[in-house]
Amino acid sequence: MTILRSRIIGLGSFLPERVSTNDDMAKIVETSDEWIVTRTGIRQRHFAAEGVSSSDMAVKAAEEALKAAGVKGEDLDLIVLATVTPDKTFPATAVYVQAALGMTHGCAFDVVAACSGFLYALRAADNMIRLGQVKTALVIGVETLSRITDFTDRNTCVLFGDGAGCAVLRAEECDGSLADRGVIDTLIYSDGRYAPELCSTGGPSTNHEVGYITMNGREVFRHAAVNMADVSEEILAKNGVSMEQVDWLVPHQANIRILEATAKRLGIPMEKVISTVGDHANTSAASIPLALAESYKSGKIKEGQLLLLPGMGAGFTWGAGLIRL
Ligand code: UT7
Repeated sequence: MTILRSRIIGLGSFLPERVSTNDDMAKIVETSDEWIVTRTGIRQRHFAAEGVSSSDMAVKAAEEALKAAGVKGEDLDLIVLATVTPDKTFPATAVYVQAALGMTHGCAFDVVAACSGFLYALRAADNMIRLGQVKTALVIGVETLSRITDFTDRNTCVLFGDGAGCAVLRAEECDGSLADRGVIDTLIYSDGRYAPELCSTGGPSTNHEVGYITMNGREVFRHAAVNMADVSEEILAKNGVSMEQVDWLVPHQANIRILEATAKRLGIPMEKVISTVGDHANTSAASIPLALAESYKSGKIKEGQLLLLPGMGAGFTWGAGLIRL
């Protein structure tokens, strides 16, 4: 039987030029390189320059992905953009990207699922491709978290960074086997009872403010490894895939200890886990596509390999993608 599958035909990423090291952070709050590296694995993060918005970074990543795919902006039918740091409360940041890329047909919209955002966006785009509703789609994760970081709170300010990552998807007919390249499956979940554990202190309909990130780190940590491992096992079992068949785990990059705990629960060696958290810190919705694009560009991840992408974030939201690149 022939089915439609979303093949990834281009990847792109963008990291702002300005780098802030742990020593730089120690000049702002009572912290140290030793504490940050030991507790999180983070050594540095990138911060967007004043005046650079999420859509600016998304466009840079998109241009790289479109070039790699050999696709023009006007050929896109769909843009799904995941972010918790939109340019404006409305309209969607995706429409600014749409305009900048010269795409005048189809549709562009945002999804808000924090660190699981790319997985939510991927599932939305993949399902529209599978249904034959769109042919070529751009899926973006982008964050300018430095704009909503409280730089007086050492519990959170050392953890986050800015950046963008994206993938161009194209509908391709295939027989639906595991050997086919493309998005094999996606799973997404949420449990709103945990919303207060990680959220913004502001919002247009509550206090008219943008707010800052506030987090119960231990509670998030406790759920992260369990949820990412459980959803990984579920997606593998659903598709009859063993952990040994997976070439790379490309998880949401929040904390090296969460990556290690997830890998341990899954019985996968750290050599098969992509870890960019040391260089990028936690870039929320951008973290998975950034890790994917940067590892592909460096030659670590190769075409044809089987990738497992678990993520977990505010909401709580969590999910996983299974992809043959
Ligand atoms: O992407 C999803 C969203 N976020 C996450 O996944 C993050 C999940 N959570 C974590 O990564 C970890 O919980 C943290 C890195 C946030 C914290 O690590 P922890 O091992 O859970 O530390 P803790 O919260 O138990 O805090 C230990 C101590 C505290 O001091 P006291 O109360 O024991 O005296 C904190 O005040 O470390 C202190 N602390 C710091 N010290 C130096 C907290 N932040 C800092 C800091 N520098 N930046």
